[in-house]
Amino acid sequence: MKFWDGISSKIGINEAVKGKKKNYVINKFLGIGSFNNAYLANEKVFLKQYTYPIGKHKNFPKFKNRLKKIYDKINYLNYTENIIELFEYKDHCFIARKYEKAKTLKKYISRNPSIENRINLLKKLILPLFEIHQNGIIHTDLKPEQFLILEDKIILIDFDHCIDEGLNINAPALTNYWYSPEHIKYENISFHSDVFTFGLIVYKLLTNIHPFYEMIKTGRYEEAILNKKGYVPINQIYKNTLPTHLAECIDFMIEPDFKNRPTTSEVYDVFTNIV
Ligand SMILES: Nc1ncnc2c1ncn2[C@@H]1O[C@H](COP(=O)(O)OP(=O)(O)O)[C@@H](O)[C@H]1O
Ligand SMILES: [Mg+2]
Repeated sequence: MKFWDGISSKIGINEAVKGKKKNYVINKFLGIGSFNNAYLANEKVFLKQYTYPIGKHKNFPKFKNRLKKIYDKINYLNYTENIIELFEYKDHCFIARKYEKAKTLKKYISRNPSIENRINLLKKLILPLFEIHQNGIIHTDLKPEQFLILEDKIILIDFDHCIDEGLNINAPALTNYWYSPEHIKYENISFHSDVFTFGLIVYKLLTNIHPFYEMIKTGRYEEAILNKKGYVPINQIYKNTLPTHLAECIDFMIEPDFKNRPTTSEVYDVFTNIV
């Protein structure tokens, strides 16, 4: 049997992908994600092509409606990706975004910035999370590559899997080592789940290492996050040089029981008041 390989549908350079608002001429192939291809089109447009063909997608209308609703909402926000349109072309779904000449937080960390710069970044990093939560949106798939660092602000991207507050559903874990205890326990995913993964990200930003790195090495990520096993309090790494309330806030974001984690507003208060 021949399996569909997901690549056959790749769009060629100079092909014009017909949207509803405009045509997008492909300039460059940017890469392959887990479920999509990314292109640079018309210089300033980031085009994401969902590789799964619409014709084979049983729940396509549902999927599209959900995305549409989400995108309508996030387009009014200040710290989220800028969406031009969602459309269908040749049996594929596309999203056109404004192309940002920016690096991801993952790249930023890999370039080994100074401790001072890392701590300073926290003030900007909390803004997109605070904003989406204030607007009733749970991201569910936070990780360093979902934050784009622009000149004047940080924006959050990739809302494909986000859910509305009040939906009370479990959601699949999407990325290895960046999911929460609720994902494992099939509990409802909530703002607290985003706070957990945000805590992992902040810890990684400030120390260069994932807080459960040692456990991950032996394939025990789930055991680690359910019991906070192998966790080293951040101020132990910092030899108590981080302000206590900041260090405690980070340690508590990564608590297995969501009831023990700070709320997004509490994190916001701590991060925006760093001196
Ligand atoms: N608007 C944009 N401008 C420039 N680069 C982007 C933009 N949106 C996403 N990217 C880059 O493409 C990557 C994948 O985009 P994303 O929407 O997260 O797709 P995936 O579903 O594959 O994770 C991001 O991690 C980022 O490096
Ligand atoms: Mg992504």
